[in-house]
Amino acid sequence: MIKATRPIFYFFVGALLFFFSGCQKTKTKQNRNMLQTNQEEVKYRPKLHFTPTKNWMNDPNGLFYLNGTYHLYFQHHPDSNVWGPMHWGHATSTDLIHWKEHSIALAPDRLGTIFSGSAVVDHQNTSGLGSLENTPIIAIYTNHDAEAAEQGSTTFQTQSIAYSLDEGYTWEKYSNNPVIKNPGIQDFRDPKVIWMESQKKWVLILAAGQETQFYSSKNLIDWNFESRFGEGVGNHEGVWECPDLFPMQIKETGQIKWVHLVSINPGGPNGGSATQYFIGDFDGKTFTLDPEFKSRIDEKHAYWVDFGRDNYAGVTFANWKDPEGNPLFIGWMSNWQYAPQVPTTGWRSTMTLPRILELVQTNNGPLLRSSLAPDFKSITAKKGTVPEMLLEEKKTVIPPGEIDLSAAQITIHLKELAPTRYTFQLSNSNGETLSFGYDHQKKTFFIDRSASGETRFSPVFAAQQSLAPRFRDDSTLTLKMVLDKTSIELFMDEGETVMTEIFFPQAPYEKVVVSADQKTVTKISAAYIEFKPQQE
Ligand code: FRU
Repeated sequence: MIKATRPIFYFFVGALLFFFSGCQKTKTKQNRNMLQTNQEEVKYRPKLHFTPTKNWMNDPNGLFYLNGTYHLYFQHHPDSNVWGPMHWGHATSTDLIHWKEHSIALAPDRLGTIFSGSAVVDHQNTSGLGSLENTPIIAIYTNHDAEAAEQGSTTFQTQSIAYSLDEGYTWEKYSNNPVIKNPGIQDFRDPKVIWMESQKKWVLILAAGQETQFYSSKNLIDWNFESRFGEGVGNHEGVWECPDLFPMQIKETGQIKWVHLVSINPGGPNGGSATQYFIGDFDGKTFTLDPEFKSRIDEKHAYWVDFGRDNYAGVTFANWKDPEGNPLFIGWMSNWQYAPQVPTTGWRSTMTLPRILELVQTNNGPLLRSSLAPDFKSITAKKGTVPEMLLEEKKTVIPPGEIDLSAAQITIHLKELAPTRYTFQLSNSNGETLSFGYDHQKKTFFIDRSASGETRFSPVFAAQQSLAPRFRDDSTLTLKMVLDKTSIELFMDEGETVMTEIFFPQAPYEKVVVSADQKTVTKISAAYIEFKPQQE
């Protein structure tokens, strides 16, 4: 009896051991994954910028403001950390710093996946989809029929609408979608809708191949084609995407001009994705470029909202203007050249900080300027200044331990610039450095992230320096930067030139050193703020 049961006994013990060792292995693997996730969260999850809790994000969509809340929807693949069937994710904020993510707003349907688009607050219920008491929010987006695309159709992108009767938290798709059929243009997408008060009508701008097209409507449902824009104007190295259009008042003259944003990929001034802008007039039907502006657009260095490599598909908020009538803008802080490879695996990509755009008069005509929109007072932990000193060849502006550079704003003033190159360097004890600066001889700004940390995930990520022109002729320079764990947003000359770029150091940067290529009499001073946003 004993003899007979022994093999069975050994078999069970063996099986149990095998089972437990298997569990142990799975557990160890799980622990390792958790550890990795935690390390990634600590190392790379931005403190000041919106990122999705999990998985893939690209363009900002449907930005609108209502009753004290900013709504940000975004291109989202909720099941993977790379691009796939697009949904609209949703987040809200009351201060443009802290964001709360909500459930998916729009999911794919029989007409396709949900590509980029916009949202408007239909105060007068022109759509009839709500009531005067219960204002409908209308989202206008592109349905992308991937199957039709695969089968060789050219009409697989159409424009559809959805409405929300609870201020943007839940949505119903309109029963008679699409509202704009495809006229036979392969890339036909990213509708942005604005209300034109002077003509009491809605205007829709979308990207169609390498141009933009304008439509109008009284009810957001029936749309009439009005005109097209873009042939022979601006950059045409890639597909035009995510347009926007809004009136602005030139600060100095009070003159009203219309600004037309058009993202392009590839074709950006430093490679890959970027957003160009055009200044002109819009009569409700046609956008006419200012002749003066046209002559200023030189083929490659057209006018770019941001010359850095990581600000794409940016658009402005509906139902929001600052007291001067200026719009509020957010962009996607990445670049199609390497976005799917960036070394975060739990989530992929970040939005830029929200920015106010303004139009200013310069000797070269009107110029778009950007400034930071959030009021950082509530998260200011420490403030300080660096009194004016002679730069000579090199000075440490922020020594290690002074402030946490992974959530900070630093403003640096240089006076009596010499015809040489000034380099600002952020560095950590691993010897990783992010360098950026200004060459006063070439009147060019630059960012060099080749030694900034992890760069090998893409051959083009750090292959060359990014460059940007200086528009001012001035022997003083003010450069403001906002630093997060993985990004720098540089605003030069009060935001006349902007550069936004991402980076992935193995450890946080600890100090800021400024140097000049030759000994100068340049004077340097600085002011800094350390931020402590609330952690979830
Ligand atoms: C821009 C873009 C849009 C499109 C979306 C798809 O980054 O290509 O044109 O609607 O992304 O996710």
